[in-house]
Amino acid sequence: TRLLVLHGPNLNMLGVREPSIYGSSGLDAINERLAKRAATAGIDIECFQSNAEHALVDRIQAAPAAGVDGIIINPAAFTHTSVALRDALLAVGTPFIEVHLSNIHAREPFRQHSYLSDIASGVIAGLGPIGYEFALSALLETTQRN
Ligand code: DQA
Repeated sequence: TRLLVLHGPNLNMLGVREPSIYGSSGLDAINERLAKRAATAGIDIECFQSNAEHALVDRIQAAPAAGVDGIIINPAAFTHTSVALRDALLAVGTPFIEVHLSNIHAREPFRQHSYLSDIASGVIAGLGPIGYEFALSALLETTQRN
């Protein structure tokens, strides 16, 4: 099993950026915990962050050829704007789980709509960094069953 973790714009600033909303963990700490969990489960995982929509689209498009069985994605602000990410995920058909650190449904109205949620296998929001680990557990269950 091979999983891809995609982090969208400004998530490279986690820990520094609005810590009252996004917490004090940096992105490296989140990725390291995921890598540990993946190693224990004996699966491959790659984490990638970009501030650029096209770079995320390129990674999604490359997923099938890279042997990726599942994607965990925090699209960050692109959640609320990106038809391009939606179309890329539809194009490849790789199962994915959408993760948000904050509870987007309890925030500004513009954060309450996602272009991805209705095509996601599942959505996790508001649990902070552990949300990524729950997503990993869920993808392991489903990808190892098929
Ligand atoms: C976020 C929520 C988005 O609305 C915001 O633009 C982000 C992070 C989250 O993880 O809570 O950058 O996806």
